[in-house]
Amino acid sequence: MKIAHVLSLIMLLLLGLLAFIVFQRFQGDAEVGKRLAENNCGVCHDMTPNRKNGKGPYLWEIYKRPAGVVDFHFSASFRQLVEEHPFLWDDDHLDRWLLNPQAFIPKTKMAQQSKDHPVSFDGMESAGNRKDLITYLKRLQ
Ligand code: HEC
Repeated sequence: MKIAHVLSLIMLLLLGLLAFIVFQRFQGDAEVGKRLAENNCGVCHDMTPNRKNGKGPYLWEIYKRPAGVVDFHFSASFRQLVEEHPFLWDDDHLDRWLLNPQAFIPKTKMAQQSKDHPVSFDGMESAGNRKDLITYLKRLQ
């Protein structure tokens, strides 16, 4: 085999490996996402088919669900935004929401502490973590 052939074979293998790594990153890691969800969301959200509301609405079948449609007492600011601009919880909206709920919907209850529930969620800075989390949320169905 000529050296050029060997080199192009190695290049091809490396390209394949690179494509695989990029694909993996693009996919997100649902197992990491599950742990992130348990640690960051479970205190307020039910993520099981039981569909029980907690401090926040249940998240079963959240992916591509229209925002604000479940039987839950949403904040006035949340209801107003959804009435004016209805949307589905797709990758883009979830990513913006999880980066900074307060920037997405000022005064949202998700980012507020209250006397009966002194926990709030201010956002998740790591884009990689948000991707893993969203990959997991897609599985809640
Ligand atoms: C401190 C409690 C709390 C935590 C922690 C929390 N949330 Fe929320 N979440 C809420 C509340 C409350 C609402 C309703 C917002 C409103 O009415 O303004 C909400 C709303 C939502 C919605 C909109 C649901 C719908 O039906 O439109 C999504 C999606 C969501 N949260 C995802 C998450 C995810 C994912 C996490 C974890 C990273 C998380 N939340 C962490 C309390 C919380």
